[in-house]
This record gives sequence, structure tokens and C-alpha cells, in this order.
Amino acid sequence: MTEFKDLFQSADWKKEKHVPVIDSPDKVKKSEFFKVSLIVGKEMPHPNTTEHHIRWIKVYFHPDNEKFPYEVGSFGFDSHGESIQGPNTSGVYTHPEVVCSVKTDKPGVIYASSYCNIHGLWQSAKKIEVE
Ligand SMILES: [Fe+2]
Repeated sequence: MTEFKDLFQSADWKKEKHVPVIDSPDKVKKSEFFKVSLIVGKEMPHPNTTEHHIRWIKVYFHPDNEKFPYEVGSFGFDSHGESIQGPNTSGVYTHPEVVCSVKTDKPGVIYASSYCNIHGLWQSAKKIEVE
């Protein structure tokens, strides 16, 4: 049986449209909110149709030297063109891009995961220093 963790794919986001891109400062001030933006398809746009789209992005923070990560946010993208007339007829689409504010006392790693309804689970990570 495949381990759940082995279902998460990763790649260079400049070449792979599914990778959730984490944009945030490399270094933040202790206990001050900073913005973390998350986008799937930053360099290469991912399709956004009823048949093929990004469903969600989840974000975690794992402080250095701690055992467990903390879930920071969970963002769903729920409109992909569907309507009573059929697929891709509503003209309403949610783009897989969000910004959230986070603060931390400790340095660590931001982890992001995303889910494409046909191409599965993707992940990325970014180190955050605290001054
Ligand atoms: Fe996809």
C-alpha cells in the first residue's frame, strides 16, 4: 500500500503548474503579523474549468525543533463554471490564490499543500527566520 505522504508530489513551480507557491518574507519580526500569499499556477496558469481545477490549498507552520506542525489555514475554491445549464456555463470561477496573515514567536517552515481534481496532491515549503 502507498503511504499517504508519498501521494504528495513536488516540483519546481516555475515549470510545474500545480505547485502551491508560497510568497512571504524570508525573515519576520517576532510576534508581528506578516502576509503569506499562496497561489497555484503563478508562472504557468492551471486550468480552471468544471472538469479540471484546483479545489483547495492548506497551509501549515512547523516551528523548528517541535514534533508537530500547526494548521494555519484551509482555503477552498468552490466555483468552477458549473450551472444548471451544464459545465462551464455560469461564467463564475474561483481563482486559487489567497493571502493570510500569520505571526509566530519561533522560526520554522511554512508548508503548503494543494489539490487538483485530476492531478492529485502537491506540496511546497518555505523556511521562515525570526528576528
Ligand atoms: Fe491539474
